[in-house]
Amino acid sequence: MCGIVACQTRPPALDFLIPALRRVEYRGYDSVGVAVRTTGGNVVRLRSVGRLDSLQSSVDGYVGATLDGVGIGHTRWATHGVVSEENSHPHTDCLGDVHVVHNGIIENAEDLRADLSLRGHAFATEVDSETVAHLVEEALADGAGLPEAVEKASARLVGSWALAVIRRGEDAVVVTANRSPLVVATGGEGAYAASDLTALAGWTTHAQVVADGDVVVLEDDRLSWRRADGSSTAPALLSTSLAAVDVELGAASDFMGKEISEQSAAVEGIVNRLADGICDGRLWHQLGLPPLSRVRFVACGTSLNGAAVLNQLLAAHGIAGSLSPASESEGAVLESGTLLVALSQSGETADVLRALEVSSDDRVVLALTNVGSSTLGRTADASVELGVGPEIGVAATKTFTAQVVAGAAVMISGLVYARRISPVTAGHLTDRLRALPQLLAEADELARNHVADVVASATDASGFLFVGRGTAVPYASEGALKLKEITYRWAECQPAGELKHGPIALIDRGTPVVVIDDGHPKLAANISEMRARHAHVITIGGPESSMPYRLGSPDGAPWGPLASVVVLQHLARELAVALGRDVDKPRNLAKSVTVE
Ligand code: AGP
Repeated sequence: MCGIVACQTRPPALDFLIPALRRVEYRGYDSVGVAVRTTGGNVVRLRSVGRLDSLQSSVDGYVGATLDGVGIGHTRWATHGVVSEENSHPHTDCLGDVHVVHNGIIENAEDLRADLSLRGHAFATEVDSETVAHLVEEALADGAGLPEAVEKASARLVGSWALAVIRRGEDAVVVTANRSPLVVATGGEGAYAASDLTALAGWTTHAQVVADGDVVVLEDDRLSWRRADGSSTAPALLSTSLAAVDVELGAASDFMGKEISEQSAAVEGIVNRLADGICDGRLWHQLGLPPLSRVRFVACGTSLNGAAVLNQLLAAHGIAGSLSPASESEGAVLESGTLLVALSQSGETADVLRALEVSSDDRVVLALTNVGSSTLGRTADASVELGVGPEIGVAATKTFTAQVVAGAAVMISGLVYARRISPVTAGHLTDRLRALPQLLAEADELARNHVADVVASATDASGFLFVGRGTAVPYASEGALKLKEITYRWAECQPAGELKHGPIALIDRGTPVVVIDDGHPKLAANISEMRARHAHVITIGGPESSMPYRLGSPDGAPWGPLASVVVLQHLARELAVALGRDVDKPRNLAKSVTVE
């Protein structure tokens, strides 16, 4: 979950490390640190609790020896040990010679710590990552060079890691990875490594993925590879079209607001790209997938809500699907012929990747991800890249709508390919997909104009219910997730018909209940039940909508009232702003969840 960056450049390393850390800060922001070599070969370590801005003050106040172009950096999402400067990366060995940044979890850290302590190593922190520094120290003491020492240390580890290591007096930066994302690149001014491509935007146009077990040395503007298979052949280059401007805020006040409003254009791009292959089943065929018959969706969080929408779409056409959080997939039995569909905006969610490790002779995985070069994108049998540009806000917004729309396009194409629906029916559905950008744009404008009034009526509420029926339920669930994620208010989603079976006891005078009213015929009675208990009913859509907004009828699109999510996203964001929250970096969270 942490972000790591590293470089070996001719200009000062901090020129890269600080902006690159800002780009990977979404991965964790409990504390931050860098270790940079001085021109004399020593290493200076600067660390700080909190966000990058706090480190920036230490950097600005630094008055020691001149720093050069060799450095590593880290932004932390704490797993082992409290959030403190001491526990912040980079970590060092006993001598202070070796400096290490780590993303992942060293599962055998306690055993290693006991073992190393017995041999006289002194630990300064509670953090699992510190063991790596001491293991490298031992290997160096045995006469290994830095790359070999990193390789030897890695061989002792169990778990997941992306590591970047520097050593006093050495020019090189050594990086390695196992089950944790890491890319490396060269650019005009040196060599770079980072947890993801966004950190490298503007520094390079091409990058390479560090595969499990690879060790890469960044030195003299070059990358030297020691591949896991024993070769030194560099892997294929990935081109990255990201420009620095793609990952910057511009005139917007926060990324979440910017990304909510990008949804109409993002969906338009997807529909334009995929629509032609829907009605004749070509889109499905080109993915090389077997005929659609049985599906299991694998996803977490917002992506799980996206999967729920797609599951309902398939169910409406007689395809048996199953859905459970990826983190609860352990021991799941995969029936022969079941297509695994994994949704993950980052493509690096550890729970999703582990859930795909099912043993089955005919396992086929289809990935829907916003990062085609991610572990999921690279390892799936077929992958659909959403292509909606980087999503920086921790709360997923445009990638949710993108997953639903791209997923719907692919599934409809699959239904045609499997002869479950006719090309004519698919044509009608495609027309409805083409109408979505307009609906999303209208919802965005409406919410921008009206959601503040709704929020003002509920700012003091300590908890919210979100309800809907049928295809509206996944959107109610997403609305509740968004709200709790960025406002820190309790929010529970229930199918409206379930309220009377228990949750209605939560309703007190004034309890806000957000209803996604897509005109379901049974919803009016549920709303009456809530009103009778003095709930503060906030309806989105329907005849009594709290905003001048209609969502259409329940016999509408099989993906349900997608545009309602734009209103729900604004609702959560507006409330978070009113409560003084950091909407882009909510507490305790990280965007890319690379631990199980
Ligand atoms: C969404 O707002 C959350 N940040 C979170 O639930 C997220 O959707 C989840 O961690 C899955 O991430 P992924 O899509 O990158 O796999």
